Amino acid sequence: MQEAVKLIQSRSPLRPKIGLVLGSGLGAFAQSLERATRIPYRDIPGLPTSTAIGHAGELVLGSLGTNGQAVDLAVMSGRFHLYEGYTPQQVVAGIRLFKAMGINRLVLTNAAGGIDVSYGRGALVLISDQINLQGVNPLCGPNDNALGPRFPDMTEAYSIRLRAIAASTGAELGITLREGVYAGLLGPCYETPAEIRFLKTIGADLVGMSTVAEAIAASHMKMEVLGISCVTNLAAGLSGEKLDQDEVLEIGRQVSGTFLKLLSAVLPRLNNL
Ligand code: HPA
Repeated sequence: MQEAVKLIQSRSPLRPKIGLVLGSGLGAFAQSLERATRIPYRDIPGLPTSTAIGHAGELVLGSLGTNGQAVDLAVMSGRFHLYEGYTPQQVVAGIRLFKAMGINRLVLTNAAGGIDVSYGRGALVLISDQINLQGVNPLCGPNDNALGPRFPDMTEAYSIRLRAIAASTGAELGITLREGVYAGLLGPCYETPAEIRFLKTIGADLVGMSTVAEAIAASHMKMEVLGISCVTNLAAGLSGEKLDQDEVLEIGRQVSGTFLKLLSAVLPRLNNL
């Protein structure tokens, strides 16, 4: 990782304290940054190479806002999913890189299915907790004590104080933010209606195929995590309609303006803690 940090710091003068992972449909945020340096993942030692898996995205270092308020950010534009065939350790490599860069606050965003039917399509939801149903854990294998303990506490996987900041920022902007528990599944198929009923029973409000491994790796390293889901669809069996990836992406795009406005207001506040 030190090699990767050296490379990144040789390409950009910025030293961000906040890392951001952009979910489906939010790539535009990385385009809006000033003083931006974009580094394809394949150029970064320690990050998975994209080989046959398709385009894997890039790390963007950039600054949000140009005046005295500018916040430097490290942004993963594109993430690694287990369903693409990456190992759990590869999925969290970017998060460990963030930590090695000196980043201690992490914002994870994603598109999710809504299990709580009161959310409605397009709702933005602050993740209060998670259920890892991916069947694997990025901390399996020998523990690197330099990163964190063998048996890390997960009581506050998602920071209460960061969530409170996001909630009050949303309220000021007139953006309705809900809270909910995110269940992370392996994918890549969407869930069956029976699986959604099961998830509802065990206390999940949102369902998706990312985020949980990243939050585990971040907790392990004592990073503070804020998670925000964009509800792109009601989960399987709840709307009478079949799920369709194009529709998921379309709703993601429709909400992205509001999502970006929220992020632009929240990130400076996280920087000044
Ligand atoms: N299920 C799983 N992942 C998702 C969904 C869903 O309904 N919508 C967006 N990502």
